[in-house]
Amino acid sequence: MCGIVGYIGNEDARDILLKGLSNLEYRGYDSAGIALLNDDGVHVFKEKGRIAVLRNSVDPAVHATLGIGHTRWATHGQPNKRNAHPHQSASGRFTLVHNGVIENYAQLKADYLTGVTLKSETDTEVVVQLIEKFADQGLGTEEALRKTLKLLDGSYAFALVDAKDDATLYVAKNKSPLLIGLGEGFNVVASDATAMIQKTKRYVELMDEEIVILKRDSYTIKDLDGTVTTRKPYTVSFDANDTEKGAYPHYMLKEIDEQPAVMRRLLQEYSSTDGKITLDPTITSAINDADRIYIIACGTSYHAGLAGKHLLETVAGIPTEVHISSEFSYNMPLLSKKPLFIFISQSGETADSRAVLVKVKKLGYPTLTMTNVEGSTLYREADHKMLLFAGPEIAVASTKAYTAMIAVFAFMSVAAAQKKGTKLGFDLVHELSLAAQGMEQMIDEKAQLKEVAREYLSITRNAFYIGRALDYYVCMEAALKLKEVSYIQAEGFAGGELKHGTIALIEEGTPVFAYATQQKVNNSIRSNVEEVAARGAHTCIISMDGVTNQKGDRIVLPNVHPVLAPLVCAVPLQLIAYYAALQNECDVDKPRNLAKSVTVE
Ligand code: F6R
Repeated sequence: MCGIVGYIGNEDARDILLKGLSNLEYRGYDSAGIALLNDDGVHVFKEKGRIAVLRNSVDPAVHATLGIGHTRWATHGQPNKRNAHPHQSASGRFTLVHNGVIENYAQLKADYLTGVTLKSETDTEVVVQLIEKFADQGLGTEEALRKTLKLLDGSYAFALVDAKDDATLYVAKNKSPLLIGLGEGFNVVASDATAMIQKTKRYVELMDEEIVILKRDSYTIKDLDGTVTTRKPYTVSFDANDTEKGAYPHYMLKEIDEQPAVMRRLLQEYSSTDGKITLDPTITSAINDADRIYIIACGTSYHAGLAGKHLLETVAGIPTEVHISSEFSYNMPLLSKKPLFIFISQSGETADSRAVLVKVKKLGYPTLTMTNVEGSTLYREADHKMLLFAGPEIAVASTKAYTAMIAVFAFMSVAAAQKKGTKLGFDLVHELSLAAQGMEQMIDEKAQLKEVAREYLSITRNAFYIGRALDYYVCMEAALKLKEVSYIQAEGFAGGELKHGTIALIEEGTPVFAYATQQKVNNSIRSNVEEVAARGAHTCIISMDGVTNQKGDRIVLPNVHPVLAPLVCAVPLQLIAYYAALQNECDVDKPRNLAKSVTVE
C-alpha cells in the first residue's frame, strides 16, 4: 500500500532510488515518482504506471546525492500523473512523499490553506503546503514539520526534502511502516528492508509520532515535541539474493516451490534435533491460560487462521474463533473471561489487524503475533511473537506464508497439548517432515496441474471449489488465489451449502473442484460432486492417497496426517491459480488493483 524510499549519501541517488522502488513495487503500482536535489534545485519525475515507465522518463543527465521516491496504491485521487508522488509546495521549496491517509486533510485545507490552489487531489499535497506555510511564517524546517504533524489525524510515513538544505532528509512516521537504513557515509529511508537490502542490512525501527533528522553520517530521532530518543539498529536476517527471482519467470512460482524448504526451516526453528518441540514456554502458557482464542487476520492469513482454529481445537482442545480484522473492530463479539488474541499477518503491517491489536491491548488482553517480518508493527506491539521464517514474500498473492502459518499453528497446538499432558497419537516433527515431502511431490506435478488449468479454466469466467470440514477452509483459499491472480470469479463453498441457493449457478461445463482429503466427510462431499455433475458441472476431485482416493479422481495428494492436509492441498490450488493466470495473460506477481501490504484501514 504505497512504498517510499529515500537516500542521502555520496553516490548517485537516481539508480539507488529506482532499484529501491522496484523492490517495493509489490506494495502498490498505480504510479511512481522520484525527486532529486542537486545544485540546480529539485528535479521531480513522475509517471502513471509501473517503475519501468518511470525509469524511462527520468533524465539520465540529472545527478544528485540526495533524493526520495514513491510507488503508489491510490487512496485519494485517481491513479494518474498529477496525483503521483512526490508532491511539492507552492514555491517548490518542499517536496514530500507519503504512505498513509490523512483523514482531516479537507478540514486542514479549509482552516489553513484558503487561497492556495492545489495541483492534485491528494491528501499529501495539503501536508506539504502546510509545511511551507509554517516555514514562511518564520519556523525552521524541522519546527514547521513538527507543527504540521501535530495537526494531522491519520497515518503517515513521510520523507521530505527542503531545497534550501542538501545536507538533510526529514522523515516522520505514524501508523505506517518506515525504517531508517544505516550505511558508511550514507543513510537510507525505506518502507521495509527489502527496498534497500542491496545497500544495507542494518536498520533502525521508528515508533509512531517520531521524526528523524537524517544526515549523510548521522540520524537523530525525536518525538513531536523535539525530545531526542536513542535506539539501537538491528540486522535483518535475509540478503539481497533472497529478494531476487533468479531463473524463475515469476516470484509466485518461486515462492510456491520454496514451501518444502520453509517447512524444514520451521522444523529447525521450532524443534530440537532429538525431535522435541521447542516453543517459548511463555507462549505455551499464554495459550493454555486462555479459555478461548480469538484469531484476527485478513485474506489469505484469515484462511490460514481457519486451519489454525481446527488445529487448536482438535489438537490442543482450546475453543477458538477466527475473525476478519476489519469486521472485528466494529462488530466485536462477546468475549470470554480469559481470551488470548492471535494476530496473523505475513507483512505484520496490515492496518485493519493493527487497529484490533491497539483496541484489545487497551482492554488489557494478552496478544500474540504470528508474522513473517521481524520488527514489523504487529510484531513489535504484541506481547508474544512467533516468526514464520518463510523469507521475503514478494509476489502479491501469498503462498509460502500461508503454509508457514498453518505449520506454526501445528507447533503451537502440539506444544500446548503436550504441556497439558495430553497424549497425542502422532509425532508432529515426523508428520511435518512427511508433509514437506508431500508438498515436494505435488510441486513435481506441475505438468499435470498446468493441464488441469488448461482443461478446466481456459474458457470459463467462473469456478467453484467445494469441500467439507478442514477442506472447506482450503477451498476458501483456493477460490481467493484463483480470483486474485487469474480474475476468474471463484467461490469456496461448504459442500453441503451449495444446494441452499448457489447451485442455481451451475450450468453445462461450470468447473467445480472438490477437495476430499478428510475421511469422515468423504462420502458426503462425493455426493455433492454427484449433485453438481448431474447439472452439467465439469468436476475435478482432489483426494488423498490411501485415505479418500477413488478411481477416477483427477488429482491424488500424497498421504499426510489429516490435520496437516491443508499443507499438501495448498500446492495444487496455488499452481492451478498460477497456470490459469498465465493462460489469461494476467500480471501474476502484481494483479490489478492490489497491493501486498495493506497499510490503510
Ligand atoms: C492474498 C493475500 C492477502 C493477504 C492479506 C493480509 O494472496 O496475500 O489476502 O493475505 O492482505 O495480509 P497480511 O498477511 O500481510 O496481514
